Amino acid sequence: MNTDTHIEWDDRYLIGHRGIDDTHAEFIGLLDAMLHAAPEAVPAMMQTLARHVEEHFALETRLMEQYAFPARECHVEEHDKVLASVHEVNALAAAGNTDVAVELAQALADWFPGHSDYMDSALAAWVAKKTAGGAPLVLRRMMSQTPRASLASPLN
Ligand SMILES: [Fe+2]
Ligand SMILES: [Fe+2]
Repeated sequence: MNTDTHIEWDDRYLIGHRGIDDTHAEFIGLLDAMLHAAPEAVPAMMQTLARHVEEHFALETRLMEQYAFPARECHVEEHDKVLASVHEVNALAAAGNTDVAVELAQALADWFPGHSDYMDSALAAWVAKKTAGGAPLVLRRMMSQTPRASLASPLN
């Protein structure tokens, strides 16, 4: 299964924490690669994606703990749900079910903008407040007029 949908990095995803922003850019790159992968490449890509997601969430959890982020319970809960699906799909992909990995990449591409807007950006703002006493500085290019992720279902 290969899709004609894309998700690509856009400056509107920037939340002002360098480590998280870099991680998010990598995440989006991995998702887009999975959406267009040849089936035989999917199991290895799924493993890479699973490792990325573990490290991605661990980075955010470390920041939540280090800076005593108040809303960490629901943020971690959401990560845990996603991670459970990622591990499940990783096992399925390793057993040869590559379509489900592409479906997961699409679901994650749909999930990411909302999670980043509401949860990760709140974390970035909190860390900035704790470290610099202010809101994170986010410099977005003015040309960002494209849709944040074009993920229309092929059935639409
Ligand atoms: Fe994140
Ligand atoms: Fe997060």
